[in-house]
Amino acid sequence: MSQQYVAAIDQGTTSSRCILFDQDGRIVSVDQREHRQIFPKPGWVEHDALEIWTNVEAVVQESLQKSDITPDQIAAIGITNQRETTLLWDKETGEPVYNAIVWQDTRTDDIVRELGAQEGQDRFRPKCGLPLATYFSGPKVRWLLDNVEGVRERAERGELLFGTMDTWLIWKLTGRHVTDVTNASRTMLMNLATLDWDTEILEAMQIPASLLPEIRSSSEVYGESTGYLAGTPVAASLGDQHAALFGQTCFDPGDVKGTYGTGTFLVMNTGTEPVTSNNGLLTTLGYKIGDAPAVYALEGSIAVTGSLVQWLRDNLGLISTAPEIETLARTVDDNGGCYIVPAFSGLFAPHWDSDARGVIAGLTGYVNKGHIARAVLEASAWQTREVVDAMNADSQIDLTTLKVDGGMTADNLLMQILSDVLDAEVVRPMVAETTCLGAAYAAGLAVGYWPDIETLRANWHKAAEWNPKMASEAREREYHNWNKAVQRTRSWVE
Ligand code: G3P
Repeated sequence: MSQQYVAAIDQGTTSSRCILFDQDGRIVSVDQREHRQIFPKPGWVEHDALEIWTNVEAVVQESLQKSDITPDQIAAIGITNQRETTLLWDKETGEPVYNAIVWQDTRTDDIVRELGAQEGQDRFRPKCGLPLATYFSGPKVRWLLDNVEGVRERAERGELLFGTMDTWLIWKLTGRHVTDVTNASRTMLMNLATLDWDTEILEAMQIPASLLPEIRSSSEVYGESTGYLAGTPVAASLGDQHAALFGQTCFDPGDVKGTYGTGTFLVMNTGTEPVTSNNGLLTTLGYKIGDAPAVYALEGSIAVTGSLVQWLRDNLGLISTAPEIETLARTVDDNGGCYIVPAFSGLFAPHWDSDARGVIAGLTGYVNKGHIARAVLEASAWQTREVVDAMNADSQIDLTTLKVDGGMTADNLLMQILSDVLDAEVVRPMVAETTCLGAAYAAGLAVGYWPDIETLRANWHKAAEWNPKMASEAREREYHNWNKAVQRTRSWVE
């Protein structure tokens, strides 16, 4: 038989990619396409789901063709995706009723406030592990039902389907209406104990159950693909951060990964029981491999890290490419007293304050653009520190090693600052595309391409590591200043 590969489709916030992996977990081919970011009003962010589907079809085909691989050489397809982004479509025509509402979109703030008015922001947390926030899908579905003409009636007649992007792609590929536990855990609608939709939450949010996909494990055959990869099993679905946890082989309780992209997402494996956070983290699913028990996780989501670098480039014009931030930040020895808290869409973990807005604090005539660049990098590190403190407190396990991945980890200065502020080792694997790798691993396991998770563990190789060099007094002083700057962002919107 000719050489076989596994294809991972990563449907992300800014682009869609397809990466082909071989049995050693090495990248054989990649193709990627960006899609439009649609901003109809301040705080609103949408995607055209049909444009995304066209891009996904194109990247799948292109990734094979550029490496002379034929469809029969693909053993399985795994899907990973931007989470929470919400779509409703007509089950007969496949026509979306509205653009997909993206996870960063804050239009549901009134819905969220109203749902929490009596019982508070943590009203549903005991069941779904999440605080009420604009971030999650449930309130976005409610917005579509209440605000797009005819949608509630069509939903009540059973004509519409809801999906996050995994569900949309699996439905387009196979015709099956399914999601996996990790994606379902980000809707606010799934009960963490039963791994099924929670009737009480659905009632409170006025969401008809007929809209919802079937919840399956993260690694099993959902159906066979049609189209270019006709007949190939679609065999994994994981939200991107859960896929990265799996791709980083964080299989043991206490293992933590941090993915540095437009935002940053830290996820800690907490084993087969959910751990309730008392410190502003999310309780979520890590992964569920077929019939094996589900593995739970604690997550600290940070909305703005890499996108702050983009903002410096696009809105302030201080750099012309994102990697230049490192060069600019290296022109100075420290932040010159300047701190930037990028609360562009409120603050996520551990604060969950939708009304916070960003600040640049500590400005004096001494501060130059190098200091600002440095403060931009430090913002990613201090936001990570806040999340790690919460993880340590919730899990009673002190972080010693953080496995990192994502575009920003190419910035060596940032990685050193991160190790300094965490006072922990930071390690980066050889295959930095851990999100796609995790989806490929889950799909490959489902079809026997890889025999077990021990084989996957053996594929993880360290490419680089950073160790703390900062004096502890300096760390404490800087953290104190950072916290003062954070206080200045709070409750800005009245
Ligand atoms: O929760 C949102 C997250 O899944 C988005 O990730 O990498 O597409 O920005 P990314």
